[in-house]
Amino acid sequence: MKITLSNGKVLPIEMHKIKIVQKTSLPPASRRLEAIEEAGYNTFLLRTKDVFLDMLTDSGTNAMSDNQLSAMMVADDAYAGSESFYRLADAVREVLGFRYCMPVHQGRAAEHLLAKVFIKPGDVVLMNYHFTTSKAHVDLAGGKVLELFEDGALQTVSVNPFKGNLDISKFEAAVKQYGAEHISFVRMEATTNLIGGQPFSMKNLREVKAMAASYHIPLVFDGSLISENAYFIQQREAAYANSSIQEIILEMMSYVDILYLSGRKSTGVRGGLIATNEKKYYDRLLEWLPVYEGFATYGGMSTKEIEAMAVGLREMTDQAVASGAADFIKYFVERLDEAGVPVITPAGGLACHLDAMRFLPHLPQSVYPAGALAAALYLASGIRSMERGTISTDRDAQGNDVMADLELARLALPRRLYTLSHIEYAVDRLKWLYDHRELVGGLRFVEEPPVLRFFFGRLAPIGDWGMALTRAFQADFGNEC
Ligand code: F0G
Repeated sequence: MKITLSNGKVLPIEMHKIKIVQKTSLPPASRRLEAIEEAGYNTFLLRTKDVFLDMLTDSGTNAMSDNQLSAMMVADDAYAGSESFYRLADAVREVLGFRYCMPVHQGRAAEHLLAKVFIKPGDVVLMNYHFTTSKAHVDLAGGKVLELFEDGALQTVSVNPFKGNLDISKFEAAVKQYGAEHISFVRMEATTNLIGGQPFSMKNLREVKAMAASYHIPLVFDGSLISENAYFIQQREAAYANSSIQEIILEMMSYVDILYLSGRKSTGVRGGLIATNEKKYYDRLLEWLPVYEGFATYGGMSTKEIEAMAVGLREMTDQAVASGAADFIKYFVERLDEAGVPVITPAGGLACHLDAMRFLPHLPQSVYPAGALAAALYLASGIRSMERGTISTDRDAQGNDVMADLELARLALPRRLYTLSHIEYAVDRLKWLYDHRELVGGLRFVEEPPVLRFFFGRLAPIGDWGMALTRAFQADFGNEC
């Protein structure tokens, strides 16, 4: 939610009280240098004891509500037939409008099952944009991802409110080229993660549905960030200015054949979900559920988390919940943009994204500017962000680096976790880092796994720039913070 102050300034405001807290600490600059070296300059490999603000992800790190926690206490632990599942199924019917649902242990488990059931080797999967795990499962099933984003979607400085739209004419061309029978499904990702949390419009979703239906291609919706996409539709698409988040979600779902989501984001729990109104899809997916996840009424989730997901689904339709992180991100992005720090605009959901190619223009993509920026930000602030660029893109079959479309360092905002002074601190340290950007050098791999290398890969700085940056920081701030 936003509030207008008497001086006309608009502030994002927390519509919740903090009832339980976890102490954090800010390690001194000297320790941060040791920690990033121990982590092979990969922020995934930092230990949280060395992290002040954890903005790696909003996945599984959101503050839960009192109602979610209390629902966990009434969980019905049973291998089969748990009442907790039926409470989730009621919430799915009410909030999303689907008759059939199955829990899975998290979002990528849903992607695995969908790939197993729908993708034949040589098939094509159409997407507005890929996500790392969604692409990995298509690849592993022998399929190929085709990204059909509109021209301009990858421009980091933009006023386009719907950079997550899928280009309908490219959809038509793909059907002509590959044949509808070779297209497993079209996947629309809400609040498109890897291009900076950018939404699609309802108009676009309706058009994608019409095209998909005319060729009998199933429309699969990745709803991990569904409430934020609904909020952006309400804010940015004139026809929906007076619609509630719940109404927008139900209309979106009316166009969808199969919804899946990571419950770790919009619903604030640790789990995942698949839902549909088509029994034929449900039955095909159900066949594999017990093999990979678990029985139909728990699917690899704990019943406590299933209860919390039922509550989380209802809560995400609350205006204050759906808007909370997005309004903070907007404030964060606008403060940085005003200061000239290169960020993705317009502000999206999920995170504030730094554009590493503009932040560190002296570094070519071959030395991983987004990874270097994430490491440098940690050195300058104790804030953990995530590389979303070439390191997050695996090599091709010939072993060559595949240069990512965008080189982003992502500062995710877990829902209801951080306060405005945390954002002000991040803005300040980012300004300092931008002023000292010429000190930041590139990275090279020293240990590199073949699949999803960004998780466990270890890198080293090219030159001793970690030390140089730390010295410059200490000269300005001392060793304290
Ligand atoms: N789809 C989207 C759009 C996601 O953002 C994620 C996860 C997944 C699928 C996979 O779900 O993690 O529950 O298995 N995104 C996390 C992130 C990891 O940090 O953005 P999962």
